[in-house]
Amino acid sequence: MSTVKIGIIGGTGLNQPDLFTPDKPDEQVVTPFGDPSDTLQHGTIAGVPCVLLPRHGRGHTIHPSRVNFRANLWALKEAGCTHVLAATACGSLREEIKPGDFVTISSFIDRTYKREVTFHDGSCDGLPGILHLPMDEPFCKHTRALLQQACDAAGVKCHKEGVMVTIEGPRFSSVAESKMFRILGGDVINMTTVPEVVLARELGLCYASLAMATDYDCWRSSTEPVNVEVVMATMKSNAEKAVAVIKSAVELIAQHDWTEIIPSLKKSVTMNLMLPKC
Ligand code: ADE
Repeated sequence: MSTVKIGIIGGTGLNQPDLFTPDKPDEQVVTPFGDPSDTLQHGTIAGVPCVLLPRHGRGHTIHPSRVNFRANLWALKEAGCTHVLAATACGSLREEIKPGDFVTISSFIDRTYKREVTFHDGSCDGLPGILHLPMDEPFCKHTRALLQQACDAAGVKCHKEGVMVTIEGPRFSSVAESKMFRILGGDVINMTTVPEVVLARELGLCYASLAMATDYDCWRSSTEPVNVEVVMATMKSNAEKAVAVIKSAVELIAQHDWTEIIPSLKKSVTMNLMLPKC
C-alpha cells in the first residue's frame, strides 16, 4: 500500500479548520509561481495526513481570476500531497441537479480567458518543454469513485457524472449564456475548476472535485436567479454535509491501493512532454 497525503482545497463557504486536527503551525510558502492563496494548514483526518488551503484565502478576499492556481497546486505538491480533494460551489444547469446536491465532476468546458494554464510556460521559473496533456479524463476516476462512496455513506445525493462549465467571472452568466451552456452540454457551472484540475494533472496529482450545487444559475425562470445571498445560504445549510463527505473520503483514500495509479498519472505527463533536443 502506498502512503497518501491529501490536499484539501476549500471553496466558497468551506474553510472549516475544524475539518481536521492541526498538527503543525500554519506554514507560509513561497513558490516559483508566487504566493498561494493563504498559509498551508497541516493536520490529520482520522490519522491521515492532510493539508488545507482555502482557494479564495481565509477571508474570501481573492476573486476567481486572481486565484494563483499554479502557486496553490505547487505548494500542495511540495508539501508532499498525492491527492487533491477540491470543494467547489456551483450553479446547476439541469433540473435534476437540485441545490444541495453534490456532483463528482467528470469533464469540463473551459470558458476562462485570463489565467495561467500550465507550468510548462517557457519562462525561466517554469517547468521545461511543452506539455500537451490529454484531457479525456482530467479527474481521477478512482478518487471520484471514493468520493461517491463517501456521499453514499453520508447519505447525501451525489450525481456521479457532470460537465462543469468554468466561466471567468467574477460576474455570473447572463440568461442567454446560461441557456447556451445547457445546449453545449454543461451540467453545472462555476469559476474555478479550470485551470485547477489541469495544473493538478500536470503535477501528477490525483485530483477530484466535490461540487455542491448552490443555485439554478439563471436559466430556470421559476427560480430566483443566482446571487451571492442564494449561494451562501445553500452553502451554509449544506456545509456540514460537505465536511462529512470529505472526512469519509479521506479515510477511504487512505485504505485504497495507489501503487499503480500514481505512477500512471506521472507517466502520462512524461509521455506527452516535448523536451527541447540539444
Ligand atoms: N458558483 C456558485 N453558483 C454559481 C453560478 N451560478 N455561476 C458561476 N459560479 C457559481
